[in-house]
Amino acid sequence: MKVRKAVIPAAGLGTRMLPATKTVPKEMLPLVDKPAIQYIIEEAVASGIEDILVVTNRAKSAMDDYFDYTPELEDVLIRGGKDSELEAIRHSADIANIFYVRQKETKGLGHAVWRAKRFVGDEPFAVLLGDDIMMGDVPVTKQLIDAAEKYDAAAVGVQKVSAEAISKYSSVKVSALEERIYKVSDMNEKPGPGQAFSEFAILGRYILTPDIFKILENTAPGYGGEIQLTDGLKTLCKTSPMVAVDFDARRYDTGNLQGFLEATIDFALKDPHVGDWLRVFLREKAL
Ligand code: G1P
Repeated sequence: MKVRKAVIPAAGLGTRMLPATKTVPKEMLPLVDKPAIQYIIEEAVASGIEDILVVTNRAKSAMDDYFDYTPELEDVLIRGGKDSELEAIRHSADIANIFYVRQKETKGLGHAVWRAKRFVGDEPFAVLLGDDIMMGDVPVTKQLIDAAEKYDAAAVGVQKVSAEAISKYSSVKVSALEERIYKVSDMNEKPGPGQAFSEFAILGRYILTPDIFKILENTAPGYGGEIQLTDGLKTLCKTSPMVAVDFDARRYDTGNLQGFLEATIDFALKDPHVGDWLRVFLREKAL
């Protein structure tokens, strides 16, 4: 199984990050000096992905502008001898083959992924959710691709969360295959009290087969009245092999303010330009 394509659903309204997201797509909010979506795209590219489809909506054109060339700005930077800035803005435009499709209707994550049907064709593909930003040595998508190839299976990225937190995610029913890899036999979206299959939650990374599209076409609206990807995967895992990978990375939910600030501080602490300064600044503030 060779995974060359990725889909990034980015059509959410960003209501947890208002008022900033009233006019700025949440994926374009900067984590240190790069928009959040660039971290997602860099993870995909570092995992061997060549073609990326971003599922957008009518309020998100700042994203495709960002991954384009900006000749006027480049001229100014060239004339001013600002080489590193020039390199940074060219890098974001040359990073991958990026395609866009609009979701057109806000009908849920399952519907957003279904919009990728024509782009994906007959190949396995990765899905990376824009809110889930990862920090780790091996890209999380690569960890999933390795497991999917080894078991010739679909794969979901999971980590254990607390019993209280599981109701925010999808919980998966698993049995161990090897260290960090489990066989998936069932799952549910946003389980109520006592309904979770386990404390393993799916956290924003998937390797799927095109079989998912036919399933999603026949998946009725579920939690919140939306077509849920989890409901489609529940059917997929009963008809085809699927593994859960307890991935090795720190995951940030940048779709809410607390997670966004955690990611901002952690990424800034690692940044060669501001990391040392920020460490001193935070120590002073913590007094
Ligand atoms: C989505 C998915 C859910 C998953 C979560 C974290 O939920 O529907 O299954 O566990 O992302 O990746 P949302 O955060 O959009 O409510």
